[in-house]
Formats: sequence, structure tokens, C-alpha cells
Amino acid sequence: MRLAHKLVDATFAERAFFCNSGAEANEAAFKLARRVAHDRFGPEKHEIIATVNSFHGRTLFTVSVGGQPKYSDGFGPKITGISHVPYNDLEALKAQITDKTCAVVIEPIQGESGVVPADKAYLQGARELCDQHNALLIFDEVQTGVGRTGELFAYMHYGVTPDILTSAKSLGGGFPIAAMLTTEALAKHLAVGTHGTTYGGNPLGCAVAAAVLDVVNTPEVLAGVKAKHERFKTRLEKIGQQYGLFTQVRGMGLLIGCVLSDAWKGKAKDIFNAAEKEGLMVLQAGPDVVRFAPSLVVEDADIDEGLDRFERAAAALTKA
Ligand SMILES: Cc1ncc(COP(=O)(O)O)c(C=O)c1O
Repeated sequence: MRLAHKLVDATFAERAFFCNSGAEANEAAFKLARRVAHDRFGPEKHEIIATVNSFHGRTLFTVSVGGQPKYSDGFGPKITGISHVPYNDLEALKAQITDKTCAVVIEPIQGESGVVPADKAYLQGARELCDQHNALLIFDEVQTGVGRTGELFAYMHYGVTPDILTSAKSLGGGFPIAAMLTTEALAKHLAVGTHGTTYGGNPLGCAVAAAVLDVVNTPEVLAGVKAKHERFKTRLEKIGQQYGLFTQVRGMGLLIGCVLSDAWKGKAKDIFNAAEKEGLMVLQAGPDVVRFAPSLVVEDADIDEGLDRFERAAAALTKA
């Protein structure tokens, strides 16, 4: 209850549904969208539009909605009524959306497939198209939420409000808890008994997440994330140029993607391995992007130390 109030006070939402993972939060979001459309308009209105290369989790519904066949192929028939359009392409969405569409699902920054931020006009346009077609706009903020981008949720940067938002990962600061946030008018379509999970909203998970929000949802931490972004970006651009590794450093807050240059395309894993030799953990976001997603309260001295190590890794790798 306390956690629900904190999330409601801090966002557009009026209701929260708690569960245990990002996939479960998205599963709930997709089921809610279909149920709302079913109740209001009938069974024909069940189609979901997602984006190419998106990632929404690993249950059958969420891999079917996710735009990456490597996660969805090989498990028998997929959930039907789902289509995928290129990300950041408003015309493609416009061409695909119809009155049978019940929801459009977007990650405000595509995380797993390369840290690709949405354009503002794209999210604004998606909002308008959804309104025109009585479709719900779902933002998957499993990766971008809870301070990661320097605002509590990434939608706040864009000024575009979804109907349903999903959150996990940072919500528990490492402890498994996830949430689907929505409005009261929508939430009432999932009446008691129509959806749920034994451990959803368990007292320990909720207490942990409430404590996380008390720390993260403060001006100091959120402003710190923005300032640390600049510290990373400046240095990473320099390293990228000096060693010919990156063409672009993109992302928001402490979700940063370094796009590999042609010479290093497909070799994110090599950079990951070279960094590991220096005792530094970096991440990949697909084969062409090196991802940095450190603690939101990482100290500047640790950033500098980490980037020194990264530079040594880059030097060793490019020399080899
Ligand atoms: C955008 C997004 N949605 C959903 C998920 C799935 O979350 P979980 O692994 O907690 O099920 C992830 C995980 O990487 C993600 O990045």
C-alpha cells in the first residue's frame, strides 16, 4: 500500500499492480490492454503493435510482442494479433494502426538492442495515433525507469504520458519486484481474480522498493544521474575518438550506449572481454553497442577509475 501510494504520488498512475519481474509486468500490461478493448469494443479489437528489435521479456506473450525472433522462434505457435514496425518511424506506425489495434507498446529507449532513444516527435505522434484509434499506449520502462535516465521515469523527459507503464529492474534495487502502473478507469477491467500472482505485492519486496524510491526519487540523486551522464559522455567520446572505437555515444542519464565504428562493428563482446581483463564490467546491447548502466549513486572518483580502466582496455585492444 505504501509503495503503491509512493508510485501514484510520483507519476500519472492511479493504480499499481505488483509482480516479480519485468516480463510479468509486461504480461499484465498486454492482458490489461486486450481486456479493456474486449470489454469496451468487443473481441475484434485485440491487435498489438510493437517495434522491431524491442525486448519485453521471455514469457510466451512477451517474446511474441518483442521484436526479436531469436527469443520468440522455436517454441511452437506464437501469440497472434501482434505486428512489428520499425522503431522511431511514425509513418510506419501510422500505416499499421487501425481500429482493431488495442495497444501500441514502446520502450522510450530501446535497451537490449542498442540503447536507442525515441525521438520526441515519435512518442508524441504515437500518443496522438493511439487516441485517434482508441488504442492504449504502453511504455515499457523496465530498463529506463526509477531514475535510470535522470528523471523518475523516462516518459517525464518527453512530456508524453502513457496509459500503462511497466517497471522492474531498478524498482527493487536488485531485489525482485516489478509493477504495472495505470489509471483507475483501466485498472477496473482487471477485477479481482482475473489476474494475479502469489508473490505480487509481497511485504518484503514492497518494503525494499519503497526504500529504493525514498533514495532515488530525490532531486539530489536525479540531478546526480544527469551530471554523471555528462562525465561519462565527455570521457567516452574522447576515448572513442582517440582509439577509433565509437562513432556515437548516446542514451540518457546512466543508460549509455557507445556505437561501435565500422572497424569494430560486431565486436562488442571483444570490448567486454578486454574490459574484464582490467577488472571492469561493461555490458553489450547487441553486437554493435557497448552499454554502461552503473549504479545511480556511483561516485565520481569511481567513474574516473572505471573509465581509466576502460581506456587501458581500449588501448590494449586496439594495439593488439
Ligand atoms: C525493456 C525490458 N523489458 C522487459 C525486460 C524483462 O525483464 P525481466 O528480465 O525482469 O523479466 C527487460 C529485461 O532486460 C527489458 O530490458
